[in-house]
Amino acid sequence: KKSGNGNLRSPICCILGHVDTGKTKLLDCIRGTNVQEGEAGGITQQIGATYFPTDNIRERTKELKADAMLKVPGLLVIDTPGHEAFTNLRSRGSSLCDIAILVVDIMHGLEPQTIESLNLLKSRNAEFIVALNKVDRLYGWKKCLNAPIVKAMKLQSIDVQNEFKMRVTQIVTQFKEQGLNTELYYKNKNMGETSSIVPTSAMSGEGIPDLLLLLINWAQRTMEEKLTFMDDIQCTVLEVKVIEGLGTTIDVVLVNGVLHEGDQIVVCGMQGPIATTIRALLTPHPMKELRVKGAYLHHKELKAAQGIKITAQGLEHAVAGTALYLVTPNDDLDDVKDLAMQD
Ligand code: GTP
Ligand code: MG
Ligand code: NA
Repeated sequence: KKSGNGNLRSPICCILGHVDTGKTKLLDCIRGTNVQEGEAGGITQQIGATYFPTDNIRERTKELKADAMLKVPGLLVIDTPGHEAFTNLRSRGSSLCDIAILVVDIMHGLEPQTIESLNLLKSRNAEFIVALNKVDRLYGWKKCLNAPIVKAMKLQSIDVQNEFKMRVTQIVTQFKEQGLNTELYYKNKNMGETSSIVPTSAMSGEGIPDLLLLLINWAQRTMEEKLTFMDDIQCTVLEVKVIEGLGTTIDVVLVNGVLHEGDQIVVCGMQGPIATTIRALLTPHPMKELRVKGAYLHHKELKAAQGIKITAQGLEHAVAGTALYLVTPNDDLDDVKDLAMQD
């Protein structure tokens, strides 16, 4: 029997792609934020995490489908850098995700880090959707703010529609050369074997409803088992950061399980395992980026999936990219320490 609604965790979606294809801008468009413009050189240099509650997703997708069955509590989206220097961060981001968005600039087609990202996803057997971004740059594009893509496309001139078709055909061919079958999502009849392309604009929001609905629906339909909530903690340290007033903190992604204030944890440290106690469990507000300094919400406990800032003593030498372990009354602390240092 299928599990009920209450027991699914939020899917984790990682955004990957070549530099400047619009990964962060797409998230800004969904969040209603301006993170990208605050980045040094307009370049993402860290992994980010944003939680989107289902209510926000429903609001954003209602023009496309008013009665969508959204069974998951929300969606946790992981932003990654596209600059070639950050292969390790792309690898870390992709290792956490249930599903991914591979962003391609419609004016550029496949680029080196598109192919690198594609290979990462293939090697992890990860499911993904292609966002063909910057459709508003097609010459003569008429904006249709936040509209479903088929509706927006019908409003375009024949010239725009033809340029669109030509570019899509070229990009489908480029993917084919990489051994991947792709098709526009609204024509794709075999989502298991053929990857779906969703045309989007992060500037004017066309195709965003389609992207969100496809992500959630597909995750719910194909990953019910994977998304069934489990008590065992699965948690990865993304970043180690000194925050004024909080001391050294770690930003983590909780993939499964529940964390509580006061929990005893162990993380891998540069000078040996760090055993400590969670002083505060913090998150940004929903729809805000974890990596951007801002107001934090305090929680007594947090259920997966979430991006969390943890404050605790002794985190100065914690190592990003390693797992966080929970020490339960049944555990032997030394065993957990050994485990933590194996990363
Ligand atoms: P990295 O994280 O550095 O790899 O880049 P990114 O993929 O996150 O791209 P980013 O969001 O930084 O956007 C790069 C540039 O493209 C910015 O100047 C954006 O304003 C612009 N841009 C992004 N999406 C769109 C879009 O849909 N349409 C148009 N016209 N410009 C876009
Ligand atoms: Mg970015
Ligand atoms: Na950028």
